[in-house]
Amino acid sequence: MSEATRRRRFLSVAAVLAVGATARNAVAAPPRSKPAEVNATEDLMREHGIIRRTLLVYEESARRLGMPEEKAPVEVLAQATRLMQRFGEGYHEKTEETEVFPRLMKAGQQKELVQVLLEQHAAGRKLTASILAATSGRDALTQPQPRAATARQLLLFVRMYQPHAAREDTVLFPAFRELFNEKQFDELGERFEEQEHKLLGSDGFENALKEVDQLERALGIHDLARFTPPEK
Ligand SMILES: [Fe+2]
Ligand SMILES: [Fe+2]
Repeated sequence: MSEATRRRRFLSVAAVLAVGATARNAVAAPPRSKPAEVNATEDLMREHGIIRRTLLVYEESARRLGMPEEKAPVEVLAQATRLMQRFGEGYHEKTEETEVFPRLMKAGQQKELVQVLLEQHAAGRKLTASILAATSGRDALTQPQPRAATARQLLLFVRMYQPHAAREDTVLFPAFRELFNEKQFDELGERFEEQEHKLLGSDGFENALKEVDQLERALGIHDLARFTPPEK
């Protein structure tokens, strides 16, 4: 190996080590200022996370309703549906309808998609009202017919909302984000946060997260590791 080659190799190894050391320091060092704010689309996507976890509660409820020997999880389902109504419809969808859809429409973008999404919000609200009605009353969900009807409505809701949220995450929100420059987008994030506090209280997201976690626990579907397929 020539002296020049040896020196080049030494320098490249030293460079890799230096980068590694910098990365380690970056991880180990405490943050110098407060962590970065959650931006507007990240906020909407985290809300989808709460909604998706509520859908898991819906799915498990539907499964139990379909088994005559299982007791209907009336209380848990009623609470999950109220969470969907308050957080999903009253807050998340409202934000989309007042802040996201109108701006895209004004920019002449995603018109057909927005139309379908609006129809789905309306269809979801009808299902929610019907599921809520089925969970109220002293002998709610004790008879086979209402059990089957509610299970069907829950699965219709899940079937609609999975692609709904997935399309918003991958098509609508990226298109929405492109309407703003960085400064405007930061300001929008702050506005979303103010809205959240106004409509849901200061810990709106955290409380919804706690609530959905409790609902999962009540049905025994809270342990994430149990969703991993067993090794053969
Ligand atoms: Fe939506
Ligand atoms: Fe959404």
